[in-house]
Amino acid sequence: MLRRNIKFYPIFFGIFVIFLIITRFLNDSKTFAVSVTPESIQQQSSITENLQQPSTYSDDDAERVLREQRLKIAAELSRYNVSAGEELYLEAGGRPVRTVLVSAWRSGSTFLGEILNAVPGNFYHYEPLHKFKKIQIRGPPQSDSALTLLKNMLNCNYQDMNDYFEFGRLHSYQLTHNTRLWENCVAKRELCLDANFTSRFCKLFPFHSMKLVRMRLKLMEDILRDKDFPNLKAVLLVRDPRGVLQSRQHAYWCRPAPDCWEPARVCGDLVSDYRAAQDLHERFPGRVTWLRYEDLALDYSTQTRRLFRFLGLDVSAAVQEFLDSHTNQQDSYIYSTYRVTSEVPFKWKKALSFEFVSHVQDACVEAMELWGYRPAHNRSHMQSEDFVPIGPYQMKL
Ligand SMILES: *[C@@H]1O[C@H](CO)[C@@H](O)[C@H](O)[C@H]1NC(C)=O
Ligand SMILES: *[C@@H]1O[C@H](CO)[C@@H](O)[C@H](O)[C@H]1NC(C)=O
Ligand SMILES: *[C@@H]1O[C@H](CO)[C@@H](O)[C@H](O)[C@H]1NC(C)=O
Repeated sequence: MLRRNIKFYPIFFGIFVIFLIITRFLNDSKTFAVSVTPESIQQQSSITENLQQPSTYSDDDAERVLREQRLKIAAELSRYNVSAGEELYLEAGGRPVRTVLVSAWRSGSTFLGEILNAVPGNFYHYEPLHKFKKIQIRGPPQSDSALTLLKNMLNCNYQDMNDYFEFGRLHSYQLTHNTRLWENCVAKRELCLDANFTSRFCKLFPFHSMKLVRMRLKLMEDILRDKDFPNLKAVLLVRDPRGVLQSRQHAYWCRPAPDCWEPARVCGDLVSDYRAAQDLHERFPGRVTWLRYEDLALDYSTQTRRLFRFLGLDVSAAVQEFLDSHTNQQDSYIYSTYRVTSEVPFKWKKALSFEFVSHVQDACVEAMELWGYRPAHNRSHMQSEDFVPIGPYQMKL
């Protein structure tokens, strides 16, 4: 009897090990599915915590969080010497300073989104159009529901957004980017999945930012014209299509999606965005601006200051803090970040084959001309240090 049992132990042990491996594999693939989605490539580190954590909260908890947040916002504003009167608070019937960043996947919008979120007292609406997945919204029919959703969010109306909150339940990066919201929900996630709470919380903030990577700039006209948002500003962020596609190469979901992977579509959007920027800039003076990712990466201190001036914010201390927190070097940080970031925008020169680059350039002649991206003539030209892919460009205003 004993002998028989002993013989079985290795089998049980084997089954147990297989069970462990399968469980592990399932967990890993779940993490993978969660993390490698269009928006999250750079945020993998933030979503490693257990998503299934049970969490409860009471109405008292919610009221306390709201009370404390009002104080936190006041403290933050005073620290940066930003004065925000009642006219900036939705809660008091006012109107916040709103900025919408319009970009496309892998064009540096995560970075710029963080810069905008460095504005003291900022609420970061993240990320409204996830449910449209791997498409670009260029017009009807998708634009109707997309614009309704955007307007509701910008008005802090988070009702009837079950799919948004359901997405947030499974993908915590939807919450973590809104840092001022998230810090209240780390231990009480359900709170941030509650539409009523989110709406009330949102209304506490004098500054609002939103980032879009699935909707083209021309559709912003509808929002710029809306009587609810007379002071809302739009920022277009574009990037060299060769750098964009090099970066998207590594996203498994991108290749099957023509809006993400086909150079003709990517560059069609760049042309459309250029014309929209021109048009909207003219029709909504002072409310639309644009920048290239490469210029931002090469000198983000200057670009950030220019952007904040455009937004009408004197927040040099907040900008400074942001720059400091993004550079851990002990030595001259401007030099270090310059070196670090200036490598990134032109990485494609070494990483892509000339055949691929040539294929992209053929589909992108107009887009590259408009945005000041210079073509590479051959392989050695492309890889040489002397070849600078960005040149001057201007809006024909
Ligand atoms: C704060 O702002 C006021 C008015 O804009 C200015 O007079 C004052 O010098 C500022 N203080 C600091 C510490 O920057
Ligand atoms: C949210 O607020 C609405 C209207 O005030 C109310 O009818 C609803 O029950 C609330 N939902 C929750 C989950 O508290
Ligand atoms: C590559 O292009 C450069 C710049 O146009 C040119 O000077 C060079 O002769 C070309 N090299 C070859 C091998 O075609």
